[in-house]
Amino acid sequence: AGLLLTGSLLTDPPLLTGPLLSAAAQTTPAAAPAAQARPVGDTLYPTLGQAGLDAVHYDVHLSVTQPGTRALSGDVTALLRATRDLPLISLDFLGPAVTVALWNGQPVPFRQDHTAGKLLVLRALPAGQEARVTLRYAGVAGVLPDPVFPFTLGWQAVPDPLNVGGGANFAFSEPDGARTFIPVNDHPSDPATFTVTLTVPPGTAAVASGQRVRVTDTPASPDRPAAHTVTFDQTRPIPTYTLAVHIGPLEAVDRPPVNVGPGGAPVALRDYFPPGTPDTVRAPYRRTGEILTFLSDWFGPYPFRTYGSAVVTPRLPALETAGLSTMPVTSSSDRVLVHETAHQWFGNSVLLRDWSDVWLNESFATYAELLWQEHQGQNTQALTDAWYATLQRRGTRPLVAATPAEMFDSTAYQRGALALHALRRQVGDDSFRTFLRGYAQGGAATPSAAPERAAQVVGTGDLLAYTRRTLGEQAERVLRDWVQSSALPPAP
Ligand code: ARG
Ligand code: ZN
Repeated sequence: AGLLLTGSLLTDPPLLTGPLLSAAAQTTPAAAPAAQARPVGDTLYPTLGQAGLDAVHYDVHLSVTQPGTRALSGDVTALLRATRDLPLISLDFLGPAVTVALWNGQPVPFRQDHTAGKLLVLRALPAGQEARVTLRYAGVAGVLPDPVFPFTLGWQAVPDPLNVGGGANFAFSEPDGARTFIPVNDHPSDPATFTVTLTVPPGTAAVASGQRVRVTDTPASPDRPAAHTVTFDQTRPIPTYTLAVHIGPLEAVDRPPVNVGPGGAPVALRDYFPPGTPDTVRAPYRRTGEILTFLSDWFGPYPFRTYGSAVVTPRLPALETAGLSTMPVTSSSDRVLVHETAHQWFGNSVLLRDWSDVWLNESFATYAELLWQEHQGQNTQALTDAWYATLQRRGTRPLVAATPAEMFDSTAYQRGALALHALRRQVGDDSFRTFLRGYAQGGAATPSAAPERAAQVVGTGDLLAYTRRTLGEQAERVLRDWVQSSALPPAP
């Protein structure tokens, strides 16, 4: 029974709270094996992820036979690597009951702890080894309240009350909603590549992050209805929360490609609109190529091979899903489009070490709004004044978030953007431009053990160190004051 007690267990005391995993483990309370997996240790989300687990790739098959409802079935194979001895595998999952678990294709014992939101695969994975873990499930997507807004994170259902094929589903996962529909190591510091295959009714569109690589239409047969199946390959690792999935009666609009990828590689542009989207809503998306070109001029090559927006009807925030921003009808402006497009660098390419560092994403994306206004010849003093006034009115805090409720507040957005503006004022436009581009291209990240995987994980300390390294001590002091002081520093 002691075979699973590994070195890492012994050196990580918090793990030693349950009995050793043994053949009897399946009949002991769920808490026992769960206690043997140590989470990543996120400051704001202490239970998410598994320390020492590196999800390399997810091969996701989702089938939705009634778009607009929460019913789905899934078949997910995760290629997992252990960076330390793992006594078992613990994935985050709030979705329906798992009926099958396979380890390299062979059945493996597992336990689903619905309360903890963990799917435990009861086999050890020694340091340096890989396994393919397959999980199959069918039922209803998990429900998870947003930390701030009155909506449910993760899998979204847009009903079709008239039953005329108007139902839709999509993912809105930031920060931890991906686990409502797929089992994942749900932390931004563990990005992975994805292959997503979506099976939907004929005539329904299905789209995900990545390049479309296959489309299959199967006619009805005695045991299955007709189906439309589409596969997308996301070849650059992305955080789980940025995975885009959209299913529904969407109209695709192609636009001329722009040569903003690495080495000037072309980026294919395609937007998706719900039926009857008015022209006023469509208008900002016609500027996508121009926005992408402008931002890549500031930030360097665009990190993905495709870009576009999927417009959704519910009143939600917009979300920077990878290569395909999720844009509510009510957020369809060039300002919000610029913001989400900037996140493709800040958040989707430069990744968060911890959710408390989310201001790193939001500050740069908000600052891109100022850069765009400046580019349009507009008065940016009015914008920075408005940001400052918002903070004076609402109050502010140091930039590192102390609670989930602080993650998307005006401090993260406006104070974060003003911090960058103060830095620009301190060092001048030329140095600021070099700084911004270097950061967007991963210059602040600690060199990864596996640089070929393109993971660029950054925390607040890394940004400060990068500032000191590239702009000097005085610049770092200016930024540090904006990062750390309880009071609002003087307007830059
Ligand atoms: N990152 C999004 C944006 O500013 C905001 C997401 C808000 N997320 C949430 N769960 N409330 O572009
Ligand atoms: Zn944002």
